[in-house]
Amino acid sequence: MQPRSLFGEKREALRKFSSNLCVSVSLWLSCISLFFILSACGSGSESGKIFVPESGHVGNWVNPLFVGQNGFHGTVIKVPESGPRGASLFLIHCAACHGNDATGRIGPNIQGVPASFITAAIAVVPLMRGHAILSQGEIAGYLGSLKAGAEPVGFSIEVTSCRECHSSGLDGGIAQISCFSCHDGPEGPVGHPAGWADVRDDPARFHGRYGKDFVEACANCHGVDLNGGIGPRCAECHDGSIAPVLEPFVLRGF
Ligand code: HEC
Ligand code: HEC
Ligand code: HEC
Ligand code: HEC
Ligand code: HEC
Repeated sequence: MQPRSLFGEKREALRKFSSNLCVSVSLWLSCISLFFILSACGSGSESGKIFVPESGHVGNWVNPLFVGQNGFHGTVIKVPESGPRGASLFLIHCAACHGNDATGRIGPNIQGVPASFITAAIAVVPLMRGHAILSQGEIAGYLGSLKAGAEPVGFSIEVTSCRECHSSGLDGGIAQISCFSCHDGPEGPVGHPAGWADVRDDPARFHGRYGKDFVEACANCHGVDLNGGIGPRCAECHDGSIAPVLEPFVLRGF
């Protein structure tokens, strides 16, 4: 069941709601907890603020060119188990695209590649720009151990702070954004929910709002120009008959 939205779509509403809430003394407890929710995000751990009421999530939260970099939402909440430094560098900065065991996902299987391949790939693959600062030797050491049959180092996804706004089930909440939309859950593989293409009355699960507000996240899999990647071209349906032709997108941050 879709959790009922309390706030409508916009952050402004969230902010207004929080000040109205404070007016009512009987609701002081909720007010205080909302204050803590909003300020707790502001004091977030190693990454600083994750959500600012005035402007939403910080920086490049869903920008595909920042997958695996420090301001990206997946990077912020991924915590590797202890292991060699190369393993945690790989898990945080590379695994979203190459798979947690490096056998491939959005990018190819890279088990056993030498450091020079990594350097070369960073120079030519647009999605990998920004990774040159990492220790490619240590990462290559870990990729070599995987090739030789070592068990991949594990990790956890720390979503406690996300539940406040995205609901305890992470499927909507006051944010009306489900973690099971663009990908199948916090640790899930690529896969959209049932109804993603046709159930228009469920804003947390239908792709329309995501396609409008967070289109840069779609580009990660549907191609930088939305002309097809590992997901289909948007224009396959948005051709003027099945669905309207999409406005030319000005992709933020590109
Ligand atoms: C945002 C997604 C993304 C991230 C993050 C990413 N890669 Fe890649 N990587 C790709 C894609 C896509 C390709 C394939 C490009 C192509 O074939 O045109 C690739 C190619 C490579 C290749 C070349 C493989 C070959 O067989 O030619 C290596 C090596 C590599 N990546 C290593 C890494 C390492 C190490 C990291 C982390 C520091 C990393 N990548 C982070 C998407 C990514
Ligand atoms: C204080 C409330 C709040 C918290 C805490 C919160 N979110 Fe959000 N999130 C929102 C709202 C509201 C939106 C919708 C943003 C909009 O309308 O622009 C959103 C949207 C998103 C989006 C869609 C893209 C974007 O940039 O807006 C992602 C991804 C996301 N959140 C991930 C997370 C993750 C991961 C966490 C936990 C680390 C988290 N959120 C914690 C309120 C929150
Ligand atoms: C607007 C689209 C969108 C929404 C909504 C969204 N994500 Fe993501 N998420 C992405 C993209 C794009 C990636 C990078 C590609 C990938 O890993 O599939 C990603 C990657 C991740 C990763 C990294 C996985 C890894 O192996 O490194 C985690 C964890 C994650 N998201 C958690 C969440 C959580 C928790 C929420 C809900 C609060 C959420 N996401 C909502 C688009 C989204
Ligand atoms: C992590 C990769 C990934 C991301 C991110 C992603 N998609 Fe997809 N998408 C796919 C793949 C793969 C398919 C084809 C398989 C499927 O239907 O699940 C697909 C299919 C679709 C379909 C057709 C679904 C159907 O039932 O026919 C729509 C619509 C769609 N995506 C919209 C979006 C929108 C809008 C976004 C951004 C908010 C987005 N996707 C983000 C990978 C992704
Ligand atoms: C399987 C078919 C299909 C695919 C693929 C598809 N869409 Fe849609 N989309 C639809 C339908 C159907 C609607 C609802 C149209 C309507 O309400 O008339 C829609 C609605 C939308 C809307 C809302 C339009 C509005 O004016 O409110 C946006 C934005 C959108 N899609 C973006 C995208 C993006 C971005 C992609 C590619 C990542 C994509 N769609 C791929 C079928 C699809």
